[in-house]
Amino acid sequence: AASLKGRDFLMLLDYTPEEIRYLIDLAIDLKKKQKAGEVYQPLKGKTLGMIFEKSSTRTRVSFEVGIYQLGGQGLFLSGNDLQIGRGEPILDTAQVLSRYLDGIMIRTFAHRNVVELARGATIPVINGLTDLSHPCQALADYQTILEHKGRLEGLKLAYIGDGNNVVHSLMMGAAKLGVDISIATPEGYEPDADLLKQSIDNAKETGARIHLCRDPKEAIADADVVYSDVWASMGQESEQKERELAFANFQVNEALAKYAKKDYLFMHCLPAHRGEEVSEGVIDGPNSIIFDQAENRLHAQKAIMAAIM
Ligand code: CP
Ligand code: NVA
Repeated sequence: AASLKGRDFLMLLDYTPEEIRYLIDLAIDLKKKQKAGEVYQPLKGKTLGMIFEKSSTRTRVSFEVGIYQLGGQGLFLSGNDLQIGRGEPILDTAQVLSRYLDGIMIRTFAHRNVVELARGATIPVINGLTDLSHPCQALADYQTILEHKGRLEGLKLAYIGDGNNVVHSLMMGAAKLGVDISIATPEGYEPDADLLKQSIDNAKETGARIHLCRDPKEAIADADVVYSDVWASMGQESEQKERELAFANFQVNEALAKYAKKDYLFMHCLPAHRGEEVSEGVIDGPNSIIFDQAENRLHAQKAIMAAIM
């Protein structure tokens, strides 16, 4: 754990497979402690600043509750109210906040803003979602899969939908953890080419297979885990109509789920749109573990904070 102190948590690619597994194990341990009512406060007296330039339910609440349970305090900072919103340079903000806080979590649009914040800050920075990635989500998701399946290596995860932030992090995590990932997207909505290349490079070490296709049936065949996310992410609201057309054949529903393994798990980062990317029958059905996923955001992020702050 000592080796993670002071590190940023920006992308799963920045972490070794051993470090990611360590964080998942720590998350499971912290979850046990919390359920047993055991008080564990390694961050007593520490403050996490939480900058939000986009909406949030899970990320905000789980970080704020998580830092509190670890003995520290969370400070919600709306991007609109900070001087960043009026053009104060990110590098100045980073240096100023480093004089008050012990860690910063940021949710924003451009990933480069998070990289710049981390460059200017002398305290750890945690990526709470950018247009490019959502590593806290993927860490909690792999914890959840491990809890349900008892293993990760060799499992097949199928992602159906937009090649966005969530699948980017799932793909990087899959490469690091030896999970096979099959991604079906419409043309023009593929995952980022550079992240794909880096993930394929990393997968050589673990043997994970990364597969892209256009046919949801092909992606979902024999999958252990089926994952979907919204067709229009935050910031893409104006593209809703054209995306509904492009993604019309990419709904995860009962007919499609028949091609997955019988005991498949359905996952979604939430918030979800029932009747768009997923049918009500699937997301509210017996294979769905969406609320276990949401819960594990708390435990996984506590592990991240306890390890790096
Ligand atoms: N999944 C997720 O990050 O949810 P919020 O947008 O509610 O934080
Ligand atoms: N892809 C979604 C994830 C929300 C948690 C978005 O960026 O809006």
